[in-house]
Amino acid sequence: MPEDFEVPLEEGKIYLPDPEYRENAEFKDYTSAYREFLHDQDGFWHRIASELVWYEPWEHVKIWEYPFARWFEGAQLNITYNCLDRHVHDSRRNKVALFWRGENNRERIYTYEHLYKEVMRFANGLKKLGVGKGDTVCIYMPMVPEQVIAMLACARIGALHSVVFAGFGASALNQRINGAQAKVVVTADVSRRRGKTIPLKPTVEEALIDAPSVDYVVVLGTQETPVELVSDIEVDFHELMEDVAAVCEPEIMDAEDPLFILYTSGTTGAPKGIIHTCGGYMVGAYYTTRKIFNVTDNDIYWCTADPGWITGHTYVVYGPLLTGATIFLTELTPDYPDNGIYWKLIEEYGINIFYTAPTAIRMFMKVGEEWPARYDLTSLRILGSVGEPLNPEAFEWYYEHIGGNRCPILDTWWQTETGMHIITTLIGEPMKPGYAGKAIPGVVVDVVDKDGNSVPPGTGGFLVIKEPWPSMMRMVYQNEERYRKYWSTIKNCYTAGDLAVRDNDGYIMLLGRSDDLILVAGHNIGTAEVESALVSHKAVAEAAAIGKPNAIKGNIIKVFVTLVEGAHPSDRLTQELKYHVRQTLGPIAVPAELEYVDTLPKTRSGKIMRRVLKAQELGMDLGDISTLEE
Ligand code: PRX
Repeated sequence: MPEDFEVPLEEGKIYLPDPEYRENAEFKDYTSAYREFLHDQDGFWHRIASELVWYEPWEHVKIWEYPFARWFEGAQLNITYNCLDRHVHDSRRNKVALFWRGENNRERIYTYEHLYKEVMRFANGLKKLGVGKGDTVCIYMPMVPEQVIAMLACARIGALHSVVFAGFGASALNQRINGAQAKVVVTADVSRRRGKTIPLKPTVEEALIDAPSVDYVVVLGTQETPVELVSDIEVDFHELMEDVAAVCEPEIMDAEDPLFILYTSGTTGAPKGIIHTCGGYMVGAYYTTRKIFNVTDNDIYWCTADPGWITGHTYVVYGPLLTGATIFLTELTPDYPDNGIYWKLIEEYGINIFYTAPTAIRMFMKVGEEWPARYDLTSLRILGSVGEPLNPEAFEWYYEHIGGNRCPILDTWWQTETGMHIITTLIGEPMKPGYAGKAIPGVVVDVVDKDGNSVPPGTGGFLVIKEPWPSMMRMVYQNEERYRKYWSTIKNCYTAGDLAVRDNDGYIMLLGRSDDLILVAGHNIGTAEVESALVSHKAVAEAAAIGKPNAIKGNIIKVFVTLVEGAHPSDRLTQELKYHVRQTLGPIAVPAELEYVDTLPKTRSGKIMRRVLKAQELGMDLGDISTLEE
């Protein structure tokens, strides 16, 4: 970990939203809202949780036995009751819950009633396969409505979903299936990307070669030709929903029962299974969607994330449904069939809230403002960004060309582990490009040195969270040690693994990771994961991966490789190694650059010093190299 360091604070332009935004915002003034939260923290969360429906109320808002928190203890609920039944029973029954757009102008529309019925049928189908409360179902699907249905069906019956992004390869999928002991895998024949179909089922077949926990694979056919089911364990998605009861009563869950597992990359080769629970996660997702993003039940809300990531869990699926809004979901990428497709969709569907990633914004910038200029984007009210720092140039472009110099931009900092937004600039507050903002009411955040002491403005340090919050992860699946590490790296704090600096007004700027994670296009990739994928190739002796700054993606992966005796560098081998990583981990982890070296810099105890490689690569000062072997 680095020591604290000076960061020059430049006074950039401040953006002031129209006063009307503040009038309509949930919080009219940050300072008083935050003070009110600090004055009675449990009362704050009690009031928010009371806006949702519970079968039994809680005895305690929170019980905090460092580093383990329990929220809404004694309460009982089912998140799908709040996402579906509640709306079906009141005036939202015939309202659109989900618009979906596919390639070739395919469209599907689900009302709340229809979605509710589909979820119940699929839930009964899962029960027929023997899935019950506490079992895990792995969902490896493209961005189609059935992906959302499968997630909600699991939650309906108290099974944990473990959604794996469909861009992961067979070995990464196998690791996640085995890690979570999934009983059923739900997948599709193919996913679609830029006019091409990408087979998913063969990847699942390969991932199942050594996956003894799996009893069944449910396959959704998305093409005209029916899917070929090749073994007894394969079941057709739609057939499973036939011959089942139409009604599936929600399983009554304790607030602290697990809701889902979601794997995230870690600093070792094995990803971490982050566990979120029913009650606290529901409250966090609802709170931030409703009161931070100000999503109302009149809104058409589009978060471009894949439900395979936490952003998709909280802000494609659960948050908007908890508020009774209309979700927009699409399998389309922003550049196909042309670079105007996203703006066309905003115009066509009258999207009010648009939430995307800096990588996408920088790509939009590159192709030019003439694309959004062709469409009417005046339906937009609020914009969001997540996943990596939103650089000032990208902020300004987004503000002007998408937001029409009108919409507030919420640059939200958070993590798989936090379950919900933690830092942003509340709607109506002055926005500072480059700065995410401040801790939202409900969480206590600080920037500290390695001993946990707050550092002054202009001094960089570690971003930490100082109090528990409802949607914090409760455990790393079957790895208490890794869970404890989050709360023990810096004493009395949750260490996020990010470096940050605060300005004189308390606005926080994120400065990147302090550990061995690389943020590629906003996705966390562990250096160790890439390295072990490379080392599993017979020609590779050792590998080291670093993140290299990139104008569009934030970072790209560069790897340094040493070869075994008898193997020789060649373009062909480079291609083969990249292909090998693609097959093992998936396209998102493929190194953009690969360099052959004779040796890697190591500490005397044999640890690879990626920091030295990175400094060398970027022409920076090598820093302290006293532990370097040679
Ligand atoms: O480094 C931070 C970065 O993404 C990490 C969390 O990644 P993940 O768990 O995959 O969740 C991503 C979506 C919530 C963080 O530790 N990050 C996320 N949002 C921002 C960010 N970095 C800077 N600014 C952000 N707004």
